[in-house]
Amino acid sequence: TVKHLTDYRPLAHRIPQVKLTFTLSPTATTVEAELHVIPQPNAPQSLTLDGNATLLALSLNGERQPETAYTQTAENLTLHRVPAEPFVLHITTQINPEANQTLNGLYASGGNLYTQCEPEGFRTMTYYLDRPDNMAVFTTKIIADAAQYPVLLSNGNLVDSGSLKNGQHYAVWHDPFAKPSYLFALVAGDLAVNRSSFTTQSGREVAIQFYTRAEDAGKVAHAMQSLKHAMRWDETRFGLEYDLDVFMVVAVGDFNMGAMENKGLNIFNTKYVLADAHTATDADFEGVESVIGHEYFHNWTGNRVTCRDWFQLSLKEGLTVFRDQEFSGDRASRAVRRIENVQTLRQFQFAEDASPMAHPVRPASYVEMNNFYTATVYEKGAEVVRMYHTLLGEAGFQRGMKLYFERHDGQAVTCDDFRAAMADANGVDLDQFALWYSQAGTPTLDVSGSLKANGDYVLHIKQTLPDTPDMPAHAKQPMMIPVKTALFNEHGEQVAFRQPESSQTNVSGCLNTAGTQGQPETVLILTQAEQTFVLQPETPAQSITPSLLRGFSAPVHLNFDYTDAQLALLLAHDTDPYARWEAAQTLYRRAIAANEAALAHGTPPAQPVALINALRQAISDAALDPAFKALLLKVPAESELWSEREHINPVQTTAAREALLDALAHSLHGELLAAALNAREAEQADKRGKQIAVYEYTPEDAAQRALQYASFNLICRYDEQATIEQVFEHYDEMARKNMTHEWGILSAINHNPDDKRNQLLARFAAKFADQPLVMDKYFSLIASSRRSDTLAQVQAALHHPQFALTNPNKVRALIGTFARNTPYFHAADGSGYAFVAQKICEINAFNPQIAAGLARAFNLLKRLEPHRQNLMRNELTKLAAMESLSKDVREIVEKILG
Ligand code: ARG
Ligand code: ZN
Repeated sequence: TVKHLTDYRPLAHRIPQVKLTFTLSPTATTVEAELHVIPQPNAPQSLTLDGNATLLALSLNGERQPETAYTQTAENLTLHRVPAEPFVLHITTQINPEANQTLNGLYASGGNLYTQCEPEGFRTMTYYLDRPDNMAVFTTKIIADAAQYPVLLSNGNLVDSGSLKNGQHYAVWHDPFAKPSYLFALVAGDLAVNRSSFTTQSGREVAIQFYTRAEDAGKVAHAMQSLKHAMRWDETRFGLEYDLDVFMVVAVGDFNMGAMENKGLNIFNTKYVLADAHTATDADFEGVESVIGHEYFHNWTGNRVTCRDWFQLSLKEGLTVFRDQEFSGDRASRAVRRIENVQTLRQFQFAEDASPMAHPVRPASYVEMNNFYTATVYEKGAEVVRMYHTLLGEAGFQRGMKLYFERHDGQAVTCDDFRAAMADANGVDLDQFALWYSQAGTPTLDVSGSLKANGDYVLHIKQTLPDTPDMPAHAKQPMMIPVKTALFNEHGEQVAFRQPESSQTNVSGCLNTAGTQGQPETVLILTQAEQTFVLQPETPAQSITPSLLRGFSAPVHLNFDYTDAQLALLLAHDTDPYARWEAAQTLYRRAIAANEAALAHGTPPAQPVALINALRQAISDAALDPAFKALLLKVPAESELWSEREHINPVQTTAAREALLDALAHSLHGELLAAALNAREAEQADKRGKQIAVYEYTPEDAAQRALQYASFNLICRYDEQATIEQVFEHYDEMARKNMTHEWGILSAINHNPDDKRNQLLARFAAKFADQPLVMDKYFSLIASSRRSDTLAQVQAALHHPQFALTNPNKVRALIGTFARNTPYFHAADGSGYAFVAQKICEINAFNPQIAAGLARAFNLLKRLEPHRQNLMRNELTKLAAMESLSKDVREIVEKILG
């Protein structure tokens, strides 16, 4: 059944207070729930609770209810007649955590017990109003065997604990903050703890506790430090302080997503907690910091103010992603972090927006909510929040946040409430901005510019929206789009300009700052389908190159008919790092498109001269951040290259892209070698005189390593055989430094056809057999290789002793990675499609969420050339015909089939 945003009805009954007693056992846990129910005015006589656990007992105001008093379906329980006055329900259920492989609700992992409730896991344990607008104060008693489950955790503060007879013990947790059931959590087991503390700006002492398996206890220092940074940052940048006496983080190896912000008791995928230099790369360290920040920031944006219903998910996720991005940017390398965010958005969200799964930031309907934890809700949602920030400035944005908390602390609200706070706090009209929440698809801006005889530079901008499955383009309205703009003259100098009043957009209070005084940059605010802006340079120019969408000021496609020379000028001189990087990306896209055309016509690819010269200059520019140079050397992913295209032959795109990489490797060989060597020396020089252990993570060293391996990746193409022999000989000495080096080397030689590559990978796997997170890296190397035997190696890896189809990290590492390995997933014989479909079918039987995630790999269906379209459709049709197909997978498959 489909749920619709427009079907929302306020609660007829509220449950503001809940007492839970969990008596734990791996196979037969009982849950006793005491629910204090308050009927609202005009509540109906019946009460329907969500739930599907085995019901053992049900009483109302102490009276046992006979079976005739209620009806049960697979999804809920309806009490036919309940009082109009407040009443108390006692509900006893029984569940089997060990048999639960969905990793939703209460489940076992490595002998310990963990919960995951968002969005609808709570209802698998007991019967409840399992929706986010029911906010309750929870008291949770946990009873368990003291030897098997020495640690017993839930939300809030520990208020009582002690021993019981027969080796049992108990703990009672009380969370004073009313919360929806999706924020409930329980953890029980044999866990090691790392303790620390944090003093808030108002002087309160908060205990910090990180729980892991004993063997992982030495790997939480970075996460612990990141948490303290996050707590301080939220105070200084947002004025938000932590509110409980204890903050707990639990790491678990079996987890469906990244992490979960349960009140006071965050539960994390081990991938985003555990990190040491020996087993985690610099990118992993950055991932830990950002996810630790993200979950911590949810305490205010998500928990204190939560969502009215699941359609509003981006209210908390878009905002919290924006906050974690800002946190990472303030910690280090703001420009680089911003470009990485744009890369992710374009690679995954733009692709989603152009697929049958396209949906607005606030979806209008869903079948399975788990399918809507998407790049659109998270990443595009964060861009929407960033646009408020761009329109209002930091001070205006913070005014909006302040009003948002003043109005809504302790409430479950909507995206419109957030927008209203931003508008009202700043006295601006953001009605049109609401379209960002309701219109799916990536807008396209077609921009043209001309320098008039009187010296004015005139920009004409046209915005269009594509058709999406939910809405045809003609039904969509023009959006409010901030376009941050600057002008450069023929010497690459940025020229200040004015904007005559007649050409300014009248959005009062928003940051359209170009007034009477000339300045270097402005935010043009589009509000119409077509608009013209007049910009008056202060100093006359021979020619003007506009720098548009600076900082990626809106999540749109932008077309401007730049010459290659203009792009090279921006790449060399633009003061906005995003715009500089984007100039290179445009040159890359052009070069790959030219290669594709050449391949199609059987002519040799042309040398991308402008691109090569521009890159040569940039790599050798000593003033440039090495991490930025590393980003400049990354060629757009295939999924980005396919945007706005039909009849795609994926293998041909890969071939065109590979040809470009080879051309770069050959033309820039000398510069790349020099860059790699310089970066290596800089990394080593950085060690001298420092107290820290050599090769630990620091942003500065990470930047040098990023450049080393971005270069090395290309260098490897120059003489494959020589490289593999050299690496083979020096592997241990090269890899010993830390995992970033080890991973960098292995990823670069991973495509080598020589058997030495296999031997190196086997050695790597043997060395780290007892490190599950490193084994994920091994499996992803196997699955991302361009070697011709890749599918066979992936199939063999399924039988590796460290592989398990039941572990989501393993599935993502091996099968998820394979599904992004373009030439093999899209193999012309259909073997890649058949393999992934088969795994979806197997995983569907026990973990529908993970199976549904894999099924998204097929969303290119309608845009493929006919041969592959047929092969893929066959697999999807077979899946759709399965009776046992979960609603999670079915929703995706049916949308793709259309
Ligand atoms: N709220 C969590 C976070 O973003 C993620 C929960 C994802 N849940 C899911 N069922 N996919 O931090
Ligand atoms: Zn989140």
